[in-house]
Amino acid sequence: MKRTTGIAVGLVLSIGLVLAGVAVGSAQDSPESLISARCARCHNLGPVCGNLGRKTAEQWTETVGRMVKKGAQANDQEKTLIIDYLSGPEAPGGSLCK
Ligand code: HEC
Repeated sequence: MKRTTGIAVGLVLSIGLVLAGVAVGSAQDSPESLISARCARCHNLGPVCGNLGRKTAEQWTETVGRMVKKGAQANDQEKTLIIDYLSGPEAPGGSLCK
């Protein structure tokens, strides 16, 4: 009985943590949801999707830096996540631009 209570409490706690993470939109989000949330406010994902597989990591770093200067919201950790994803091999054909 005690044991099951412990497991139940553990489950509730971990679900709570996951939900809290989603609610604040932390950097633990998938890169796709982070990009959809932060990079489709001024324009749609068109310019992002049109450049997947074309820009190098340096070019994405330059672009994302410019977007942040314009007002895109991303801290250093989120910028790294976004740039790694956009210049990585999973982005073209990934779920972001479907
Ligand atoms: C504050 C408004 C704003 C936000 C938020 C924003 N952008 Fe932009 N974006 C612009 C404007 C304005 C342009 C066109 C002028 C230019 O390219 O500087 C643009 C153009 C672009 C282009 C095409 C030009 C190029 O350099 O290839 C890409 C790619 C792009 N944005 C990616 C992103 C990404 C990735 C994010 C999220 C990190 C983002 N944008 C968030 C305003 C924004």
